[in-house]
Amino acid sequence: MSYFPLGRPARIAVMASGRGSNLEALLESFPHDNPLGHIALVISDKREAPALEKAVQAGVEARYLPWPTGVQALPVPVGDGPRGSGNTGRAQFEQAANQLLLNRGIDLILLAGFMRLLSADFVQAWQGRILNIHPSLLPQFPGLRAQRRALQAGVSESGCTVHFVDAGMDTGPVVLQRRVPVLPDDTEETLAARILKQEHQAYPEAVRRVLMGMEKIDRSQV
Ligand code: GRF
Repeated sequence: MSYFPLGRPARIAVMASGRGSNLEALLESFPHDNPLGHIALVISDKREAPALEKAVQAGVEARYLPWPTGVQALPVPVGDGPRGSGNTGRAQFEQAANQLLLNRGIDLILLAGFMRLLSADFVQAWQGRILNIHPSLLPQFPGLRAQRRALQAGVSESGCTVHFVDAGMDTGPVVLQRRVPVLPDDTEETLAARILKQEHQAYPEAVRRVLMGMEKIDRSQV
């Protein structure tokens, strides 16, 4: 079932743990006067995340929600599996996040460098309304250090994927992919930078498609 198009501007939340370069691209593409939708809320599990400051500078509500300590982050499975229930820190975070998202009337959640695994319950509650961006051509190289693993595997091309989030790790239906070549003298950094440039175009484009109810699998060549 598709929630979109809504027939009104969508209220979008971004969840980010780090530098927030994808957030920046999204803030530029979805300002408050975009009739399709705008970024209304940014949530981070890291108090010092540059993403929060970028949201403040853009005049968008920025909220730090703690993920209580003693809880393992990616990529270590916790509880009864990667998205299991035996994780009290996660439960607290998700309860606070869910309340905030509902209070703010959020229609769509965008994970942009959010370095935590969300529970199956949370993902289920937002099914069809939560997207992620990943720096590989999924299903290749899910999880951490995707660019390094692409180099190690000796692939000749890589890229990025925007996908709906489901209960697996980087496994939901693909909305859009962008490809880049892997060059013989690439390092993890040069490959990551080439992919990131594509991410900044791919994520806003994927969001536009979803909001217009036009998402479909697209593995365009560069
Ligand atoms: C990006 O490479 C994204 O694909 C991955 O985490 C990174 C986040 O970068 N999920 P930024 O914080 O958006 O700059």
